[in-house]
Amino acid sequence: MASAFPCFSPGPVPNTLGVSCTADQLCVAGSEGRLIEALREAGEGALVLGQGSNVVLPERLDQPVVLAAWRGLRLRVSGDDALLTCAAGENWHGVVRYSLGQGWAGLENLALIPGSAGAAPIQNIGAYGVELSERVAEVRVFDRAENRVRALTAEACGFGYRDSLFKADPARYAVLSLTLRLARRLPMRLDYPDIDLELRRQGVTQPRPRQVAEAVIRVRRRKLPDPRQWGNAGSFFKNPIVDPGQAERLGRTEPGLATYPVAGGVKLAAAQLIDRCGWKGRRRDGVGVWHRQPLVLINFGTGSGPDFLALGEEVRRSVRERFGVDLEMEPSAMCPPG
Ligand code: EPU
Repeated sequence: MASAFPCFSPGPVPNTLGVSCTADQLCVAGSEGRLIEALREAGEGALVLGQGSNVVLPERLDQPVVLAAWRGLRLRVSGDDALLTCAAGENWHGVVRYSLGQGWAGLENLALIPGSAGAAPIQNIGAYGVELSERVAEVRVFDRAENRVRALTAEACGFGYRDSLFKADPARYAVLSLTLRLARRLPMRLDYPDIDLELRRQGVTQPRPRQVAEAVIRVRRRKLPDPRQWGNAGSFFKNPIVDPGQAERLGRTEPGLATYPVAGGVKLAAAQLIDRCGWKGRRRDGVGVWHRQPLVLINFGTGSGPDFLALGEEVRRSVRERFGVDLEMEPSAMCPPG
């Protein structure tokens, strides 16, 4: 079928869930200019994706899809500080490796997170006590509502836990590049028990940033499935924040429930709630719940986007029935449940 727009043609849409999805109109944008041109051409309905690490896709997408696929890293050094600008299409873990390889600290806790640099600020990726927002100097976007390129400071990005201005209004912003603030020396963030334990196991007492990254990589490899082997989108749900009264009531009826005081309430561990509902290792057709970390749903090979949403809904229902807690999905759903 001939495409309605010259730079678009039918093609497969990459995604880490490993579901098969074909876009009727796909444009692989090899530069910022190409992406902007494609978005102007395709109009409001076009969807921008990087490596598809946080989306649940249908089998067929009839809206135009533009992939941010260009690369490029630029490091500007000023004494013991540096600014690293990454093109949207860079692989996130590649950015982490590059920065550490050049001797810069700041990204070590965020090693091995799947996806592209352009996607990182959208859900404000975070792991092992660090959120991307703490390292962001600037995000350059194409603002589709204003039809112009804008540079936003970290404050202007409205970052929250797995949240940002971009996630709240996905049809408006396309990320072009991300600038990170790095330093030769930063206080290491080792408060997360898993990382502390892993470093002790290695006999490391004064870790360098690279050693922290290696510990993070080992912990992630142990707990989380490799998307190349088992399609997944990392945590399928956010950790819920409930009010202190509800947390206290739950604590009485559910001994041993992990609670973390945060701004706006008390954070619970979604993994623990799902675990207590008996979901670990369970399978529904082509999809299932990862046996080592039940926050992660995986593809056994034949799972579709709607299958993931249907399983996610079942998990949510059982958590709601037992704990009265509503889990919110972390990836963006582009299709109705199966
Ligand atoms: N737990 C269980 N059973 C399990 C696993 C965990 O009960 O099988 C409980 C434990 O009490 C544990 C708690 O859940 O202490 C938290 O587990 P974990 O430390 O593995 O972290 P998480 O809350 O499950 C979050 C992020 C991850 C991030 C890790 C490390 C969210 C939604 N997830 O997971 O992010 O890597 O912390 O910082 O915030 C992602 O967003 O895709 C992601 C993988």
